[in-house]
Amino acid sequence: MHICIALHICTVCCIMEKFKQSEKKANAMEKLPKQTENFRKTCAFPKKDNGKSFVADFQKLPYFPVSFERGKGALLYDYDGKEYIDFLSSASTANIGHGNEEIAEAVYSQMNKITQYCCAYFPMPEEERLSKKLIELTGEDDMQAAYSNCGSEAIDCAMKLARAYTGRNRIISYKESYHGSTYGAMSISAISVNMRKNMGSLVPDAYHVGYPNCFRCKYSKNECGLKSRCAERMKESSDGFGAGLNGDSLKGENFNCLDELTEAFEQYIPPEEVAAIFIEPIGGDMGIVVPPKEYMQKLQELCRKYGILLVADEIQQGLCRTGKWFSYEHFGIKPDIIVLGKSVGGGLPMGVTLAKREIMQSLSAPAHVFTMSGHSAVCVAGLKQLEIFEREDMNEQVAQKGRYLKRKLFELAEKYDFVGQVRGEGLSLGVEIVDSRETRNRDCKAAAKISYRCMQNGLLLTFIGKNTLRIQPPLVITKEQLDRAVEILFAAFDSFARGEIDDSALSVVKGW
Ligand SMILES: Cc1ncc(COP(=O)(O)O)c(C=O)c1O
Repeated sequence: MHICIALHICTVCCIMEKFKQSEKKANAMEKLPKQTENFRKTCAFPKKDNGKSFVADFQKLPYFPVSFERGKGALLYDYDGKEYIDFLSSASTANIGHGNEEIAEAVYSQMNKITQYCCAYFPMPEEERLSKKLIELTGEDDMQAAYSNCGSEAIDCAMKLARAYTGRNRIISYKESYHGSTYGAMSISAISVNMRKNMGSLVPDAYHVGYPNCFRCKYSKNECGLKSRCAERMKESSDGFGAGLNGDSLKGENFNCLDELTEAFEQYIPPEEVAAIFIEPIGGDMGIVVPPKEYMQKLQELCRKYGILLVADEIQQGLCRTGKWFSYEHFGIKPDIIVLGKSVGGGLPMGVTLAKREIMQSLSAPAHVFTMSGHSAVCVAGLKQLEIFEREDMNEQVAQKGRYLKRKLFELAEKYDFVGQVRGEGLSLGVEIVDSRETRNRDCKAAAKISYRCMQNGLLLTFIGKNTLRIQPPLVITKEQLDRAVEILFAAFDSFARGEIDDSALSVVKGW
């Protein structure tokens, strides 16, 4: 825990240093809140270290110069005691909220019993118990779980399994998707060239097709004047900033975006050589993008037709985040492999790959073994979290809070033409910021400025997919906290619309 905090401090100190430099340059730099000034004094690097951070810059995505000392539920406190409402949940890991005493006690008592024993050599019962519980949540029975230390490794496990089970090499995933940072996960991600630069060869035979994003449907702008097959339906079914799953998703048989895949199967990817298609049922880091339900169903049909495994990356959206145990449930599909990470360890590091027993048995030991994976204290934390979620009927709570929050966000969309779309499910929502709803050009600077103002005013808000505000609070957030967060958000939108957030914010907030 202390190491974690120290790491945060170092990270933030570097951001602070850059911030100081940019501050000098800015002519009309806005005054930072007093607490942040205090923070800078407290956390500035000692002079003898020349103000240098000891943490690699390539692990940092500068959003705001702050570091958190403690938290409770959906609230965070920085080193000056300033309170923030958390709209990020540590990148959707702190679903249970911060400072959960039941989880802390469960981990404490497990660590008191035994530090841990490498599960590869001698199985631990906690590992079995968590596997059984997770499999139970899928509604399937004949499955097994494989453990990793993080989501990226769990994706690698799914890649290995898909290749071994099918005896095929090729893997398809989506443009703008993020599946992780190991060589395998990186090879099927396509969100930032910095994730590929100067790293040599990646895992071969990985292909990327366009994610079904109706708001940015490239087929609706067909130059020859032909309407896309779903463009008309989109006009009818969407109010322009909806197109979520709440009754306004597209209906119909045909999707141009699926053509990209079927054409690839005719032109350059032999389908009988494809091992798996990896998809996030709700695209997270690309900007919380919700595909049409029918697309997902057709995709499953296509996979079944060619014997391709369908892999659902549930690392960000799984375990109650969208008001379901797994986000694929919104689409009425059954993936062959399910990948979990982030919140699955109740706030501690873990990745889990779930698949039918016969798929799991296509690899032999030690095909995917890590000294610390399946750590008993993490399993105990994960189990306790699931117990709390069930006890508190968390899926229902999240669905209700999500509907409430989405209604509020629609008010923003009604008021401001620069809100392109409000979308998402449960407490995984995105607000896409554009220059105007007509042109739909991404306004990345506006998203950065709005985030900056929210952070100044005590709402921890970031943006993804370049211009989409990421709204993923801890699932335990209260209605009062949601209302307060919405007030801060509305005020930031007002300030932005009045031109009150100057460009100096952009030298602080950079993001991806
Ligand atoms: C959808 C998705 N897949 C995979 C990952 C990688 O998980 P980890 O950072 O735990 O390796 C992430 C992390 O952001 C993610 O959002």
